[in-house]
Amino acid sequence: MCAEELRRLFAPASGMVYVGHDLFIPPTGHRRSDADPRLLLTRDHGTVHALANVCTHACRPLVIDDNPVPRSRVTCAYHDWSFRGDGSLIGGRDIDFGEGEQGAATRRRLALPSFPLLSWHGFHFAVDPHRADQYATDLARVDADFEARGIGETDSTRTTRCAAKPRHRWPWPGPGSIRT
Ligand code: FES
Repeated sequence: MCAEELRRLFAPASGMVYVGHDLFIPPTGHRRSDADPRLLLTRDHGTVHALANVCTHACRPLVIDDNPVPRSRVTCAYHDWSFRGDGSLIGGRDIDFGEGEQGAATRRRLALPSFPLLSWHGFHFAVDPHRADQYATDLARVDADFEARGIGETDSTRTTRCAAKPRHRWPWPGPGSIRT
């Protein structure tokens, strides 16, 4: 079973891809992914999103370090475009996106691209959406195995398509300050 889990779930380049842990995402705010600097993890009204860490104005990086940003909007330092935690565009300095449906369509086109996430015990994984059901089933089986051995957690919602509300106190010390 362990070999099967390793092959299907955690194999590099074929399984789920770890992108960050709940501990390091502010209750409302965002942080660059631990695993891929091209990704941003945001928490918006309790839901975690994986968004492109690339501004849709001129393709500059939005967050350039690992510090958590405890603000609901993502603001680009280059020309002040800003985005909500779900990636939707709020606006940009001195830019007229148009009125009505046409303006709304332009804003939708300029939203930050988002990517499907699967969350398990606070670990967030990027997944191929076509295989998400299979991964969720496999992770549920891992949970059942843990539980059968008396090492399961007591909460019932362990695997979600996006993270639930944080179960940990924040702020948490940065990764560099954790001691083993
Ligand atoms: S590159 Fe982000 S606002 Fe211009």
